[in-house]
Amino acid sequence: MKGLFIVFEGIDGGGKSTQIQMLSDFFDSKGYEVERHMEPTHAVIGSLLWDYMNSKSRSFDPETEALLFAADRIEHGKVIKESLVKGKVVISDRYKHSSLAYQGAAGVDVEWMQSLNKHALVPDLVILLDIDPDKSLERVSDRAKTVFEKKEYLKKVRAEYIRYAETGELVVVDALQSIEDVHEDILAHVKKLTE
Ligand code: TMP
Repeated sequence: MKGLFIVFEGIDGGGKSTQIQMLSDFFDSKGYEVERHMEPTHAVIGSLLWDYMNSKSRSFDPETEALLFAADRIEHGKVIKESLVKGKVVISDRYKHSSLAYQGAAGVDVEWMQSLNKHALVPDLVILLDIDPDKSLERVSDRAKTVFEKKEYLKKVRAEYIRYAETGELVVVDALQSIEDVHEDILAHVKKLTE
């Protein structure tokens, strides 16, 4: 059996971690083998990116960021493929659309990024947990913010995400609903894959 590759996208404060946990429990309860992944990864290139994002300033050119995220993704892709071949469900916190949205919002040429990411896997489902940055920043106010969490920038990131949702590459779920309602919406999309 081929596995399933599901990606969660969106700006922070949309409840990705909670929903990923709930979806992972759902698959567990149905007897699937589930793996939770994230990007940046915690492998060599991903760890460099985490150090960078936790530093005080955004000193790299956005193009350098795009290259590093894409490099991390190429290595990550190999790990995902191995799990999918074994029939596992892989749920990733972020994937290609994070680069298109975040580095795209910082002005990086999208065609160039598409070409850097052309070997990226096509997920079975990409879920955008959509939230206004005014609200999301309230939710993340009590934990450390990375260099990427500035309101005006996040508004552009959100607009980029919506653009891809309009092409049908992502499904949009309203993250301002209750945790249970968000989960129900997600399950409705997931069930279309498993029917
Ligand atoms: P988070 O997963 O805790 O939200 O942190 C990851 C940060 O990395 C987030 O601010 C978005 C950013 N990011 C990019 O800018 N481009 C990418 O391609 C990826 C995977 C993440």
